[in-house]
Amino acid sequence: MSGLSSSTSIAIIGAGTMGAGIAQVAASAGHPVLLFDARQEAPSRAIEQIKASLARLVERKRMAEADAAALVARIRPCTALGELKGTGLAIEAIVEDMAVKKALFVDLEDLLGADAILATNTSSLSITELAGGLKRPGRVAGMHFFNPAPIMPLVEIIRGFATDADVAQIVFETAKAWGKKPVHVKSTPGFLGNRVARPFYGEALRTLEESAADVPTYDALIREAGGFRMGAFELLDLVGIDVNWAVTNSVYDSYFQDPRYKPFRIQGEMVAAGRLGRKTKLGFYDYREGAAPAQPKDAPKASAPTQATIEGDLGIAAPLEGRMARAGIAVRRLPGTGSLVLPECRLMLSDGRTATERMAQEGGAPVVLFDLALDYGVAPRIAITAADQAPHEAVMAATGFFQALGMKVSVIDDIPGLVVLRTVAMLSNFGFDAVHAGIADAAGVDLAMQAAFNYPIGPIAWGERIGLSHVVTTLDHIARAYGEDRYRTSPLMRRRAAAGLNLSDTPFPTPR
Ligand code: 3HC
Repeated sequence: MSGLSSSTSIAIIGAGTMGAGIAQVAASAGHPVLLFDARQEAPSRAIEQIKASLARLVERKRMAEADAAALVARIRPCTALGELKGTGLAIEAIVEDMAVKKALFVDLEDLLGADAILATNTSSLSITELAGGLKRPGRVAGMHFFNPAPIMPLVEIIRGFATDADVAQIVFETAKAWGKKPVHVKSTPGFLGNRVARPFYGEALRTLEESAADVPTYDALIREAGGFRMGAFELLDLVGIDVNWAVTNSVYDSYFQDPRYKPFRIQGEMVAAGRLGRKTKLGFYDYREGAAPAQPKDAPKASAPTQATIEGDLGIAAPLEGRMARAGIAVRRLPGTGSLVLPECRLMLSDGRTATERMAQEGGAPVVLFDLALDYGVAPRIAITAADQAPHEAVMAATGFFQALGMKVSVIDDIPGLVVLRTVAMLSNFGFDAVHAGIADAAGVDLAMQAAFNYPIGPIAWGERIGLSHVVTTLDHIARAYGEDRYRTSPLMRRRAAAGLNLSDTPFPTPR
């Protein structure tokens, strides 16, 4: 089965951010593109935006000027739906409203030929429901791109109950010919990417609701310690806080209000206030002209220790030892359970308990916890938090220690699992859940999350790198701290942790 030939014209309905991006992708592959929007001026405005982004590529010598001009010339702005007649594939990227989308598809079905394929870029609405009531539901499929569509490689190809296998395969091959990484995904709420990614936003919103870290500090930790390309708040602003809110609510409702997916009020408040992100020039950040760029909070300079004791094995944080050697910190080794001991405090990687709880349970020196980093050998920033009972000198000593290693330090409130560990533990948990539900295999989940969101490693591989038993312990502790079902551990993850096996070690379901 091959994809549509590049002479087939493609209709894009909806000239917002996603519609414009998809139009660019299709035109870049040589298709004539008809770009329609119910708002008369939207298609021309979208074409101007495409021109501007291509001009940047030309400037950076990544594209020839003539190619950019030819690409733009292939996109025709349309102001009447009737102009789309004769197109072979229509992709809708309009408002996330089932009734509005259904009405559009009824019109398109009448307008386009019986062979035309109707695709939807919906982020989370049911393809089955969308196709229900149409004359030819077999010709409807999901074709879900990620923002920015010209850059992110993943395209989820979703089959509703009635979608013809051939139709899904044509859409798959077409996306491939457009230079994308298509994956066939089971029709399930949030599909694969948006389902597994929920905690990336959720944990950020919870941290903000609890005033544990401010927006730029949180994002800096996600980027500089976690190695993600964008912080959660930056990404919410890029995608649209309202778009993400619609996805979050749709996934939550589709799973019958499973607390795992429960939205956070603060996001609804932002939507109600009309602060939708970049598109309204105000979201979690201020994009208005002249606005001062938001800066993360860095702990003030503290004095460096001359020596430290490593008790036991630091596990994934072991690359800190190289940085200690380079910083001239003398190291003494003693047996123990994996902590860094300074005269003023005991520093440990979080295990999901608060520093306060840990100090109360374990006694001894004041406890300061540090967060997960993608690579402790190079991370430029780290989050730390101190027990409520710890004196100020303990925080100062921990700050001085990490600063001596060349890291910026963000001191956050004592929340369970801090920022990066909590986020990655939950992403991994959701990844295991997706495998357990048969939505994709482990490699598929990891590849999809890298191709859709540019994650530095897939969430399943990341959980395995941390150690599944540590991730399970962390989630159990966070679940206890909040008393919420949101943090329940995936049975599959718990099972693999108990077996001492990674998902990549043996296939799942386990062959007998
Ligand atoms: N067309 C083609 N190429 C473009 C382009 C365009 N319009 N704009 C930029 N590029 C190219 C650049 O030339 C550059 O190429 P190079 O690396 O080969 O030089 C590359 O794309 C990166 O661009 P920039 O250097 O300008 O930008 P950054 O390095 O800051 O990266 C980013 C920007 C790719 C957006 C990165 O920050 C990222 O990956 N962020 C995460 C995005 C993400 O998670 N998206 C998913 C959102 S969720 C979603 O969409 C689901 C929905 O259902 C809600």
